[in-house]
Amino acid sequence: MDCYKVSRSDPLSGEVEISGAKNAVLPVMAATLLAPGVSRIRNVPNLKDVRTMADVLRVVGARVSFSGDEMSVDATDVSHFEAPYELVVTMRASIYVLGPLLARFGTARVSLPGGCAWGPRPVDLHIWGMEQLGAEVTVAHGYIEAKCRPGERLKGAEIHFPISSVGATANVVMAAVLAEGTTVLNNAAVEPEIDNLCEYLVSMGAKIEGIGSRTLRIEGVETLRPGDGVTIPDRIEAGTFLCAAAITRGRVRCLKTEPKHLMEVIRAFVRMNYQVDYGEDWIELDARSAEPRPVKIVTQPYPGFPTDMQAQFLALLATIPGNSVVQETIYADRFKHVPELDRLGATIQLQGDTAFVEGGAKLTAATVMASDLRASAALVLAGLVAEGTTKVTRIYHMDRGYERFEQKLSALGGRIERASDGE
Ligand code: UD1
Repeated sequence: MDCYKVSRSDPLSGEVEISGAKNAVLPVMAATLLAPGVSRIRNVPNLKDVRTMADVLRVVGARVSFSGDEMSVDATDVSHFEAPYELVVTMRASIYVLGPLLARFGTARVSLPGGCAWGPRPVDLHIWGMEQLGAEVTVAHGYIEAKCRPGERLKGAEIHFPISSVGATANVVMAAVLAEGTTVLNNAAVEPEIDNLCEYLVSMGAKIEGIGSRTLRIEGVETLRPGDGVTIPDRIEAGTFLCAAAITRGRVRCLKTEPKHLMEVIRAFVRMNYQVDYGEDWIELDARSAEPRPVKIVTQPYPGFPTDMQAQFLALLATIPGNSVVQETIYADRFKHVPELDRLGATIQLQGDTAFVEGGAKLTAATVMASDLRASAALVLAGLVAEGTTKVTRIYHMDRGYERFEQKLSALGGRIERASDGE
C-alpha cells in the first residue's frame, strides 16, 4: 500500500490549478443514465472515485470513455438495474444511481452503503424521498429495492426534507425530472454541487425552477436527451491548498477556482488575520507576514463553513498560538484525525461534537494513519510543518479525491513523496 513521506517544508509559493469537483461530477455521472444517447461531461478530474463511478455505470450497461478531462457516457443500452455491494462499499456516492434508474426504468436495486470512517451515515432520506414520489421501496439482504407501481411512472409530490442533505436532494431531483407532474422540494440542499447537477439536468431537457434556492420546483418530462456540461471547480481542493499556504506561512494562488463558493472559508482565514485576495476565478492567500490568531469555527450546510474543510483547519489551528474551537454540526463523530494530529504533537481535546485546540504546538514527525479523505489532507498539512519526516499511511483515501496531489504540492515547494510501505 502506498504512503506519503512528508518533510518539513519551506513556505509554499506559487500558483496551482484547481481541478473539477469530485462531489459535483459524481451525481452528474449518475444523471447521464436518465437518457439514451451519448452524454458529455467536461472538466472531469482523474480520481479513483470517478473511476469507481464509471465502473458502476458500466455494470448497469452504460459505455464510458475518457478523452483528457472529458468523459462520454452512452446510456443507450442500460439493462441491468443494480449497483452491487462490491462497488457501493468502496464509494457511498454509488447510491446516486438509485434515482435515475428508478425514474427511467421503473426499477432499481442498490446496495446499502453501510457505515463510514466517521460514524453512521444513514440513507433514510434518499429512500423516503423515492417513496414520496410513489415508489415502493423495500430494504432486504443489504439492498435497497425500489420499484414504480406496475404500469406507472413516478409521480410528482410536495416534499419537505427534515434536514438539508446534499445526497438526498441530488437523488430525489434526478428521480423527479422524469416523474409525472410537478415536484416541489422544500429545504433542498443549496451546495454548489447541487446547482451544477441541476444545470446539467436542464441541459438534458429537465424543467427545474429555483436552482440555487432552498425550494426547487420540477416539472416532470417524459423523456430527456443526452447532457453536456462543465464540472465546477473543487472548492475543497482549493481550500486545502489555501490551508497549505497558511500553515507553511507561504503565499499560494489557486487558479481556475470559484471564490464565491468559498466565501465562508475565506472569512475564516480573514478572521484568523490572513491576507486573502481574490478575483473572478482565483484566490490567493499570503501568510508571509501574518500574525495569525485563534478562531471559533462551526461547520454548517452551505453557505456555512464546510465539514469537508474541518480536518484541514484543525491541523492549521493546532499550529496557531491561542485557543481555537471547532464545532462539527454535520457529522458529530468526524474527528478520527484528532488522535493522529495529537500524535504529531498537537493538543486537541474532544468533547462531544466540539474540538478544543490549544494552539501553537511545535509539531514533530511521526507515522500517522489516514482514516478518510479530508483527514488524510489534514495529516499531510501537519507533516509540512512537523520537524522531521512524517509518514502518512493509507493514502488511497487521497487518491479518491485529490487529483495529482503530490505533484501539485511539490510544484509549490512542498516536500512530499509517494512510497510503498509494504503494508
Ligand atoms: C456530501 C459530500 C460529503 C460532505 C457532505 C456534507 C458527496 C459525494 N459527499 O455527503 O463530502 O461531507 O455532503 O457536506 O457529495 N443524512 C440523514 N439521512 C440521509 C442523508 C443524510 O440523516 O438519508 C444526514 C447525514 O447523516 C448528515 C446530514 O444529513 O448529518 C448531511 O449529509 P449529506 O448532505 O446527505 O451528506 P452526503 O450527501 O452523504
